[in-house]
Amino acid sequence: MSVYDTAIKRRSIRRFKDMPVPKDVLEKCVDAARLAPSGANLQPLEYIIVDDEQLVPQVFSIIKWAAYIRPAGDPPPGHEPKAYIAILKEASATAPWTAYDIGGAMDNIMLVALEEGVGSCALLNVDWDKLRTICSVHDSYEISLLIALGYPDESPVEEPFDGSVKYWKDEQGVLHVPKKKLEMVLHWNAF
Ligand SMILES: Cc1cc2nc3c(=O)[nH]c(=O)nc-3n(C[C@H](O)[C@H](O)[C@H](O)COP(=O)(O)O)c2cc1C
Repeated sequence: MSVYDTAIKRRSIRRFKDMPVPKDVLEKCVDAARLAPSGANLQPLEYIIVDDEQLVPQVFSIIKWAAYIRPAGDPPPGHEPKAYIAILKEASATAPWTAYDIGGAMDNIMLVALEEGVGSCALLNVDWDKLRTICSVHDSYEISLLIALGYPDESPVEEPFDGSVKYWKDEQGVLHVPKKKLEMVLHWNAF
């Protein structure tokens, strides 16, 4: 799949197959994140891969999923994520552009994962204090973002935006995600 096709195809996945994600795939995702653009090339980010079968359920228990449709968007029992990647930043990294670094790392992880057939969901609705304890994160680091990973067991579909950003599930359980059309967001040369 081309990078374009992967980017177009990617949707957040919240229902996963009962199949482990190989360690080399998880490591490849972090390797791609490592090489993402970084403001002033400061590279303040580090990563924790969580795939330990004791820890994965603990992480699952501290996440809130799909706020617009809760609890219909929760991964059902047996369909939880198989791994997570936490993006950490040095607590001393206070440059205002650090958020861009995190976004770039997030995108590289999600696109490389999907190229390998692995679905993902970025997560901010997380109990960070508990995650810090679960993963024994040192005080000199902050956890910025969590990404859930696993082989997709759902196929969300893009819908034309009609004034509401709220995604929904139909009677078959298919997730529909409104997206603004290209002509709504693209300006050539002037606004
Ligand atoms: C920064 C960020 C934080 C997010 N946090 C959550 C979250 O806590 N829980 C969740 O279920 N989805 C979360 N999402 C996923 C969004 O809901 C999802 O990207 C959005 O609905 C658009 O769907 P798409 O990813 O399929 O394009 C987050 C996405 C981003 C980029």
